Amino acid sequence: MPGTRFNDIRHFDTVDSTNRYLLDEARSGAPDGVVAVAEHQSAGRGRLGRRWEAPAGANLLMSVLLRPGLPADHRHLAAAVVALAGADAVMTVTGLEPGVKWPNDLLAPDGRKLAGVLAEADAGAAAHLPPPPFAGSSGGSGGSGGSGGPGPPIVVGIGMNVNWPAADADLPAGLVGSATSLQQQVGRPVDRSEVLESLLRALEPRVADLATESGRIGQAGDFRARCCTIGARVRVELADDCFEGTATDLTSEGHLVVEVDGVARRVVAGDVVHVRSAGEPGASGGRVAPE
Ligand code: BTN
Repeated sequence: MPGTRFNDIRHFDTVDSTNRYLLDEARSGAPDGVVAVAEHQSAGRGRLGRRWEAPAGANLLMSVLLRPGLPADHRHLAAAVVALAGADAVMTVTGLEPGVKWPNDLLAPDGRKLAGVLAEADAGAAAHLPPPPFAGSSGGSGGSGGSGGPGPPIVVGIGMNVNWPAADADLPAGLVGSATSLQQQVGRPVDRSEVLESLLRALEPRVADLATESGRIGQAGDFRARCCTIGARVRVELADDCFEGTATDLTSEGHLVVEVDGVARRVVAGDVVHVRSAGEPGASGGRVAPE
């Protein structure tokens, strides 16, 4: 794509996972900016070890290989800039204004999930893996801390529901009320190649910003401004704990601060559900945007 680093865009009819493909390419020395796009993934990866499924030819399934040389405690920004560029593209192509739900989901204005983002670092560079919510494919969790070294290559994938589901009836029962698509939101099919092009154009200056401290501060500020979790009543679901509180802040490492009975708790990784209080418009008392 002229004027950007994304000049090597590899299209697949089917691949197991565009993230897996680019992680392997990274290990073989592929440069910053390679993009993989698939019509269909046979083993699409979601956050927290989940699968990401979509019918062939309906949605945007893409990953980008970045070599941003970020300090370990800022590596969450690689996923953040992809989520922000995804939001930019949605606005440009459809006029919808998505929110970003922590850590990186795009939500439609009605609170349903439009897109998810998964960042993974090269398993061969496990020593440099940052702490969660950034996912490491080796399962390592130790960051190198501070601002050492160039860091591992980072693959960031985004799955965006562009034309599927076209209607709630297309969804498995468990996703009705929690997932939506651009088509469903705007009432017409949306051109996936337009969304891809717009996303990559928006991503270029955001990735460029990761190279400088002032740029990183700017991107973190953009993320905070678009993050609809801050200020929301949330239920935090961890492997061994579940609590409800008000999300009040993001730390510089990208962790979510949730105030519970006057005490601030820091959420590093896990599921966060936005809950609405009874009496609020559209309140169901239940999940609004589960993953
Ligand atoms: C989530 O769980 O919300 C994140 C989903 C990320 C899915 C995308 S689709 C393209 C890329 N390849 C994968 O295997 N996963 C990501």
